[in-house]
Amino acid sequence: MKSVDDAASIGKFPAAVAVNMAAVLIDVNKTFRRGRDEVNALRNVSLQIHSRSFVAITGPSGAGKTTLLQVLGGIERPDSGKVCVGGKDIGELSEAERTVFRRRNLGFVFQFFNLLPTLTAWENVAVPLTLDGARRSVARTRAKEMLDLMGLAKRAEHHPRELSGGEMQRTAIARALISEPALILADEPTGNLDSETGRSVLRLLRQVVDDRGGTVVMVTHSLEAADVADRSIRFVDGVPLPA
Ligand SMILES: Nc1ncnc2c1ncn2[C@@H]1O[C@H](COP(=O)(O)OP(=O)(O)OP(=O)(O)O)[C@@H](O)[C@H]1O
Ligand SMILES: [Mg+2]
Repeated sequence: MKSVDDAASIGKFPAAVAVNMAAVLIDVNKTFRRGRDEVNALRNVSLQIHSRSFVAITGPSGAGKTTLLQVLGGIERPDSGKVCVGGKDIGELSEAERTVFRRRNLGFVFQFFNLLPTLTAWENVAVPLTLDGARRSVARTRAKEMLDLMGLAKRAEHHPRELSGGEMQRTAIARALISEPALILADEPTGNLDSETGRSVLRLLRQVVDDRGGTVVMVTHSLEAADVADRSIRFVDGVPLPA
């Protein structure tokens, strides 16, 4: 593993440190309640993620990894604490502002893909562009280029139900990268891929950091995937520990 000690750090720090950080969490708590049951998915989490770094999040099932990405991406609101992305306190944005902010600044690869079943592969990939007002012809060309990069040129007209699990995953990755977002949040992006394809996805994410100056936060169970990262953070019971 590359040793870039300051790629991400855990613990307390002054708010001023937020400059040059792709994302900062301060004392974030998130509890899910279901009837009488309570799950503390994130417990007092303070983290800073440096711009232009590749951070792997590991840990057992149920440790809070997906919740962390959802809070970072403004999909879930924390019960308490602050979440800053690209220097912006996303807790202060309205729902509508957050949606636009997310579309322009974040690329999300969901654990279960979240592809739209009625759209073809290229239309799914193009969603961030078309929602932002791109012309269909421009969006189609860009989406097909992204699919090509994922080795899916021949699947552009397929609907999700006509794709394999790994193809759906690569389509979701293409969609996350198409608008060249500053921060990419990827939930087990290689989980459904054979080792060869998995490696090529990791190489691509690494390039996003090294060549384009993006930041990647990737949840993974794979040691090989974590190895590509500058830094790993292990979550156990909603608490981050240095790996
Ligand atoms: N919407 C929800 N309602 C109730 N409990 C939830 C909800 N979402 C997550 N949880 C609980 O919060 C905990 C953390 O969930 P999370 O999805 O973040 O885990 P994870 O680390 O991503 O696990 P995995 O590796 O299995 O994907 C789990 O115990 C889960 O059951
Ligand atoms: Mg998860």
